[in-house]
Amino acid sequence: MTETLTEKTVGQLVTEQPARSRVFEELGIDYCCGGKKPLAEACRRKDLDPEEVAEKLRKADEEGGAEHIDAASMDLTELCGHIEETHHAYMRRELQRLDDITAKVEKVHADKEPRLHELRKVFLGLKEEITSHLMKEEKILFPYVRQLEASESQPQFHCGSVQNPIRQMEVEHDNAGEALQRMRELTDDFTPPDWACNTFRALCDGLHDMERDLHQHIHEENNILFPRAMEMEERLAKS
Ligand SMILES: [Fe+2]
Ligand SMILES: [Fe+2]
Repeated sequence: MTETLTEKTVGQLVTEQPARSRVFEELGIDYCCGGKKPLAEACRRKDLDPEEVAEKLRKADEEGGAEHIDAASMDLTELCGHIEETHHAYMRRELQRLDDITAKVEKVHADKEPRLHELRKVFLGLKEEITSHLMKEEKILFPYVRQLEASESQPQFHCGSVQNPIRQMEVEHDNAGEALQRMRELTDDFTPPDWACNTFRALCDGLHDMERDLHQHIHEENNILFPRAMEMEERLAKS
């Protein structure tokens, strides 16, 4: 019997049809760090009817989505390149831009909105952790994944198995997800107050966009790249 949509994990559902991520974003279902949960369970946690959500997914499949790239059809070398060129480049650019904006908005408006102090602190923590995270992926993990794909036997790796850096990267993904979640709470779901200036509005908009990109980025790593790299390493170890 084939698996029904509600039995599949949310990560698997987005891997098969990237446009489904739109439905999960809209419903607040975590498909990246929480991607290993079956749809039925993810719905239960959110008090949603799994059959209604499955119906929305089928509709998203029909509509498709040209803007979503199909990461599952790439080989691992292509996928590493895609992640670096799009998500990593985006993160570096936006972290710098939002660093300036969070500092400015805190300075001018924290008297009226004291939560801006914590927002700035959480942002700086995220920036520091993500900056070193991207470097670890680009200098250690991704080069080894490319090597795995090009080898006929298991290459030497100073971290031992690929599972070691992957475990660490997943912890850091959870931390980044939590930081974005906290910033979402501190800004009332990225909604600027009525009195907000354009810079405050740009801050909410920029953070919201960063959350969307980060979800997609973590999904491509946790649910596609990492499991496939582990499988590949296992296969080479046996050969
Ligand atoms: Fe990454
Ligand atoms: Fe990552």
